Amino acid sequence: MTTRHSVDFFEAQFRSQARAGQFALNPFETLALPFVRGRVLDLGCGLGNLSIEAARRGCQVVALDGSPAAIAGVRERAAAERLQVESREQDLGSYRIAETFDTIVAIGLLMFLPRTRALELLDDIKAHVRPGGCVVVNVLVEGTTYLDMFEPGHYYLFAEHELEERFAGWNVLESCAHRFDAPGSTVKVFATVVAAKKPGAHANPDPARCHTSTAPQPQGDPDVQCRLSRTR
Ligand SMILES: C[S@@+](CC[C@H](N)C(=O)[O-])C[C@H]1O[C@@H](n2cnc3c(N)ncnc32)[C@H](O)[C@@H]1O
Repeated sequence: MTTRHSVDFFEAQFRSQARAGQFALNPFETLALPFVRGRVLDLGCGLGNLSIEAARRGCQVVALDGSPAAIAGVRERAAAERLQVESREQDLGSYRIAETFDTIVAIGLLMFLPRTRALELLDDIKAHVRPGGCVVVNVLVEGTTYLDMFEPGHYYLFAEHELEERFAGWNVLESCAHRFDAPGSTVKVFATVVAAKKPGAHANPDPARCHTSTAPQPQGDPDVQCRLSRTR
């Protein structure tokens, strides 16, 4: 069962961002965009900035979120540009994915679910990406001390490398850590993984797409570390 706390936390923020016309992609959506193609499922789409941009680039998008303000905004913008975005208000605390997609994105969602449910949805995501397709997942990890958006006892901070480890056997294209200062001298620490499902047991991963150094590689910004990076 899901509580409304996390959705309510974002509702006011979405309303004021929509009023101000603030629809820029966040850093995680920017990271995700080059990997998004075909039929796309955007879980916890928020204002739908990634969904809208993907649809502008020719993707067919299903965008789901529990926030009425978010979904109303996505609908309005998609309709104005006649984009292929099917957006729906959806409680993702119990949702089961019913179809297969080329790309599934869950940016900033899974930590709002209790551990068992977060891992169940992650498994559902992995199961519903077609072979050769891509998953983009971003979560808050241990070390995060900004907890205002969580209902006590009803969230899950992943272990530092857990997300990447849960994609063992996949072709991990990106694995990044981002750290941001937050109000009250707290911090948010994120892990982001982009992973492609291998086409089959005998298929070769495309080595040109991955640089497989395991050493942390600062990318210029001291608050960002990517353990794998795209070379294409
Ligand atoms: C941190 S925001 C991320 C939004 C968007 N993916 C982005 O990158 O800007 C988290 C989103 O998850 C949604 N959310 C949180 N818990 C949810 C739940 N149980 N069911 C549906 N949506 C939920 C919130 O409404 C919010 O839009």
